[in-house]
Amino acid sequence: MAFDPLTRLAQPLMFRLDPERAHTLAVQGMARSAPAIARLGLRVRDPLLAQRVWGLRFPNPVGLGAGYDKWGAAIPGWHALGFGFVEVGTVTAHPQDGNPKPRLFRLPEDRSIINRMGFNNDGAARTADRLAAVDRTGQLHRVPLGINIGKSKITPVEDATGDYVASLDRLWPYADYVVVNVSSPNTPGLRELQESSALAGILEALTDLNRMKADITRRRPRPILVKVAPDLSDEQLDAVIDLIGAVRADGLIVCNTTLSRTGLRSDPSLITEQGGLSGPLLAARSMEMLRRVVARAPGLPVISVGGISTADDVWDRLAAGARLVQIWTALVYGGPRTVAAINRGLVDRMRREGVDGIEELIGSATR
Ligand SMILES: Cc1cc2nc3c(=O)[nH]c(=O)nc-3n(C[C@H](O)[C@H](O)[C@H](O)COP(=O)(O)O)c2cc1C
Repeated sequence: MAFDPLTRLAQPLMFRLDPERAHTLAVQGMARSAPAIARLGLRVRDPLLAQRVWGLRFPNPVGLGAGYDKWGAAIPGWHALGFGFVEVGTVTAHPQDGNPKPRLFRLPEDRSIINRMGFNNDGAARTADRLAAVDRTGQLHRVPLGINIGKSKITPVEDATGDYVASLDRLWPYADYVVVNVSSPNTPGLRELQESSALAGILEALTDLNRMKADITRRRPRPILVKVAPDLSDEQLDAVIDLIGAVRADGLIVCNTTLSRTGLRSDPSLITEQGGLSGPLLAARSMEMLRRVVARAPGLPVISVGGISTADDVWDRLAAGARLVQIWTALVYGGPRTVAAINRGLVDRMRREGVDGIEELIGSATR
């Protein structure tokens, strides 16, 4: 393979920096260099990969997971890297600094990450202004844009609904789909909101607002998805799936980071850092949850995330019934060419196996 400065030089340099500093530089680099990155040819434009979900056209099934660009600072850059959709956030109603640093840890031996960022973000109003500015350049919706919303730390758990509603109110015009994040382990009490009655209240309020906004603007209601934790029991997951059906929400994102540390080989001083673990060790549970959702709610669109890094991983998730996938940790360890490699690998395998389109692949292992 030809010498590739992007992977061979930029990445080792990044790994010598403090992880959060490296992440900040990566996002700033993506924000500044989108036109240069676009010239690298990382966007795989093959009709085999395209599909429509919720009436939106996804040019390929690989999205950027929430939390990489909490600010919506580098949207044209993610497009240039070849993502088929982008999710910004988590955004909270109030701006907040997040937890004290250090709060982001690499576990290279396990190709994993532990984070306890705590929703450091600009808040709904400033984020909406930034997205509006991107919109004016015509770059906001080149691929579908998801906006992931969560509860502000200062808002008591019992007032969570109002916090989510305030965020949706501000961000609605810019979202192609909306994600209700009730699964981050780093905001005290947040994951209790996965419990049915609390989640029902939030989803009903958001659905009402969504309909109202759609009526007033004569635009389509935004698909509303719920993102769940891998640490839910099967019974808790079933309850969330049934609730989604009852309130007619539009999909699930499975799954967020885990509190489990089972199977890690890294140094115990790293493993014991508090926060959510992401990367390959999430893969088995994420797949198990995906299968459960697909069996219980056939037809409900699921975005599968957790431990995905190769085209074969994506293939397996789609074959198991996911409509779309997202990656986060693989981007850190695999570098900026990861998305292109996955999409090229998918096209190659589809041609080899005579699969005529992504829709044919989706759910093929369940039939
Ligand atoms: C540093 C970091 C920050 C994250 N922040 C968020 C977030 O703000 N909101 C969210 O819904 N998920 C967040 N996630 C979870 C990811 O979106 C994803 O669900 C998880 O990392 C599993 O995917 P992966 O194994 O490909 O990393 C974060 C993950 C990491 C590593």
